[in-house]
Amino acid sequence: MLPKKPPMGFNTWNTFGPDISDAMIRETADAMVEKGLRDAGYTYLVIDDCWSKRQRDPVTDKIVADPEKFPQGMKAVSDYVHEKGLKFGMYSCAGVRTCANYPGSYDHEFLDAKTFAEYGADFLKYDYCYKPDYADGSLLYRRISMALQSSGRDILLSACNWGCDDVYSWIRSTGAGMYRSTGDITDSFGSFRDIFLSQLDNMKYNAPGCFNDMDMLTVGMRNRGNVAAKGCSDLEYRTEFALWCFFGVPLMLGCDVRSIDDTTLKLVTNPWLLRINQDAECRSAFIAHKDRDNLCNVYARLLSNNEIAIMFTNLSDHPHGEVWFPLDAIGIPPEAGKALQLTNCFTGEDAGTVKEYMLLPLEAHDCAVFIAKVVDA
Ligand code: GAL
Repeated sequence: MLPKKPPMGFNTWNTFGPDISDAMIRETADAMVEKGLRDAGYTYLVIDDCWSKRQRDPVTDKIVADPEKFPQGMKAVSDYVHEKGLKFGMYSCAGVRTCANYPGSYDHEFLDAKTFAEYGADFLKYDYCYKPDYADGSLLYRRISMALQSSGRDILLSACNWGCDDVYSWIRSTGAGMYRSTGDITDSFGSFRDIFLSQLDNMKYNAPGCFNDMDMLTVGMRNRGNVAAKGCSDLEYRTEFALWCFFGVPLMLGCDVRSIDDTTLKLVTNPWLLRINQDAECRSAFIAHKDRDNLCNVYARLLSNNEIAIMFTNLSDHPHGEVWFPLDAIGIPPEAGKALQLTNCFTGEDAGTVKEYMLLPLEAHDCAVFIAKVVDA
């Protein structure tokens, strides 16, 4: 089944890298339930690279879980995750080795898909390292998709080829439910800003069935773990999360949810932002007012129930006194006699009614998000 809304969950890579284990996954599953993340919609728990032994089993040719990290095998971990009401995600690669140099699925697609189905996987992230030059990328994603479909289990294919080889033009035809469109994120403002800006022209490819994946969130990592860089302030994490929500892309948490702090938990379960992300109609966001270098754009997105989401951004390094946009830019000319009644998505508070235009000062790296209804002026 292809996803109708952007998938949500947690992935081990950002914080844990190779330091994954049976205990760490079980504790994460517990935390996702206890902290209300599962009930907020974060249902996939995905184990990324470095989960297997370095070589396939010499007799069966199967990939085998690392017995030191996962002494009870993967099925036991998967069963535990399922008992918690979560879905279980695995990782492999279209090439001969994974990016961290474990066995990849090239030429073993059907065997591996069967193995993942035996584990009880519901999701497969499929990377692109060590792909033989002569192999066509779109064929490799079609092959694994075919293998998953004949595995006897409904497994969401999460492609990860970093936006290479014109992936936008063919990924939807492979049967993937989401696809990474950028290189790897690190925990810094510059990293998520550049990833976001690189995707402005690709948002038209983001739609039900196959979502444009801008990578796992670094929100709340606080510069600890595998992709630590400069770290972000609370304000910057808020901007990152708001951008991912507003643009309707998958929300995969990358912080250690076992020790998630209250500010982060409140942010990632913010009902107004999640409502925008998970809106039933999944329409694309568009630029409602364009700044010269896209750093201080205003974006809009039509939601179901005749609501409109509006996002003001200041992704520059300087305060911006007046991020401006005319309501006409979203189709409300002054002579229509209409106004927008606003709810502030960070607080849920009524933010009043505006006519003709909006003007908002924003600190460097800040943003503001509103859900609006059209009312009589
Ligand atoms: C990269 C991928 C990352 C992570 C890593 C594992 O190619 O983009 O998200 O999966 O491989 O080695």
